[in-house]
Amino acid sequence: MTGPEQGGQPSAEGTPVAVVVLAAGSGTRMRSKTSKVLHPLGGRTMIGHVLTAALHLHPQHLVVVVGHDREQVGAHVLDQVPQALLAVQETQEGTGHAVRVAVDALRASAGTTDGVIVVMAGDTPLLEGETLSRLVEEHVTHARAGGRTGRALTVLTGEVPDPHGYGRVLRAPDGSVLAIVEEKDATPDQAAVREINSGIFAFDGAFLVDALPRVTNDNAKGEYYLTDVVALARQDGREVGAHRLADVRQTEGANDRVQLAALAAELNRRVLERWMRAGVSVVDPATTWVDADVVLEADVTLLPGVQLRGATVVAEDAVVGPDCTLTDCEVGRGASVVRSHAELAVIGAGAAVGPFSYLRPGTELGAGGKIGAFVETKNARIGDRAKVPHLSYVGDAEVGEGANVGAGTVVANYDGVRKHRTRIGRYARTASNNTFVAPVEVGDGAATGAGAVIREDVPPGALAVSAGPQRVIPGWTPRRRPGTAMASAAEEAGQGEPDAGEGPPVGGPSHTSGDGLASEPPPGSHS
Ligand code: UD1
Ligand code: CA
Repeated sequence: MTGPEQGGQPSAEGTPVAVVVLAAGSGTRMRSKTSKVLHPLGGRTMIGHVLTAALHLHPQHLVVVVGHDREQVGAHVLDQVPQALLAVQETQEGTGHAVRVAVDALRASAGTTDGVIVVMAGDTPLLEGETLSRLVEEHVTHARAGGRTGRALTVLTGEVPDPHGYGRVLRAPDGSVLAIVEEKDATPDQAAVREINSGIFAFDGAFLVDALPRVTNDNAKGEYYLTDVVALARQDGREVGAHRLADVRQTEGANDRVQLAALAAELNRRVLERWMRAGVSVVDPATTWVDADVVLEADVTLLPGVQLRGATVVAEDAVVGPDCTLTDCEVGRGASVVRSHAELAVIGAGAAVGPFSYLRPGTELGAGGKIGAFVETKNARIGDRAKVPHLSYVGDAEVGEGANVGAGTVVANYDGVRKHRTRIGRYARTASNNTFVAPVEVGDGAATGAGAVIREDVPPGALAVSAGPQRVIPGWTPRRRPGTAMASAAEEAGQGEPDAGEGPPVGGPSHTSGDGLASEPPPGSHS
């Protein structure tokens, strides 16, 4: 099994036979139709983070115990890790019962339970793979040294200011671990212990399989507690280790949306810290959100109000922000993206985007290209050094290298049934306020006139105009809009009389008489 993280792979001997992830609980405190472990933070689901950490161990098998919302959760797990083994726990009778279900499924599927079995919960998204590696390493080292009567399990623990809700780790005067007692079953003295059980363990598989059937549900909750196997190990004369983690926040779970938001903020803080140490400038960490899978190169600058989501990659010297949301985008070296929203877009090296633009999926902007202000693009390849500077919609289109698309251009790509493509050639210059009625092609080095509606292909090097010659009807205002502010203004400008126009009308029959003007189109419409 290979995971997305590198390094820290334990030796073959330390490779767990299985990691078991417990995710059958209901998570009612989320008050959600979505299962708790499927709630997102940092660009993955809660269990997505846990699976990533689990895969860091390269276990031979990954077993996920599902119960509540098993369809939703199971489908998501298989989507993330197709080779995962789902074990269904029909009724939630406790963590000990859940692990028994997992171990049964492992034996049925793999034919063995020998080796190290790691158990963890599905709701601790800050846990790092590296921490699991160290837990397994410590466990394996001691198990090897101790032989048959040696270490049965190693539990990951931490000291917290407020242990409320956790199982407490009870130690003998010599420091060895005696038992874990759940809060509801603890005496006041035991409850005062601040070393808590993280719920994450490395087990000797043979011991675990032998101990689980001996766990009873004779306790405050009437559940089978996994934690009871600690005392069973001691009864068997086996050693129990505790791996104390200084960074206890890694083991924190979220039970409600308040805790989820706090974990998301903490995760983001950690992600930003990692990138800053790797050479990224984050001007305002408080308003910058970077998902766990984002990749940033050194000397990237993130200005305030930036969200980088999904699998976004930003190359060196690029500047993103202020106020951008980029989802699954690629930003090239030295590019700049200002106050814009983009998804599944590729922005070339040295290109400029924004302010206030919307790049939809399939946008590819070439090196040195520009998508300026108030531009929407979709499924559009805009070539190297090509520019769409102002107020335009460009969809299902190709704009050739070095071409310039005029302000206010609309590519009419949709005929109500199908989408069609528009091609604008290399170094073409299209004028302001053009409409391209797709499918249509403008040749290399061609040009268009202002306000043109381009319905037919324009050959390379040609000029296309479509608005028709301009007609001027002198004295239209005083005749047709008498008594208005418009008429007074015209009069003050000395344009009040029909004869006072700027010479003869152009391009049409003369309209010097007032007759026949009832059918005149209003100003602004095309002839
Ligand atoms: C458990 C531990 C406690 C520890 C804490 C850490 C036990 C008895 N207690 O308590 O010592 O400090 O975790 O967070 O183990 N689950 C199942 N099936 C079940 C019950 C639980 O899959 O029948 C799953 C849950 O979905 C969850 C995990 O196991 O992912 C832990 O269960 P939860 O009920 O949260 O245990 P805690 O009471 O928190
Ligand atoms: Ca819990």
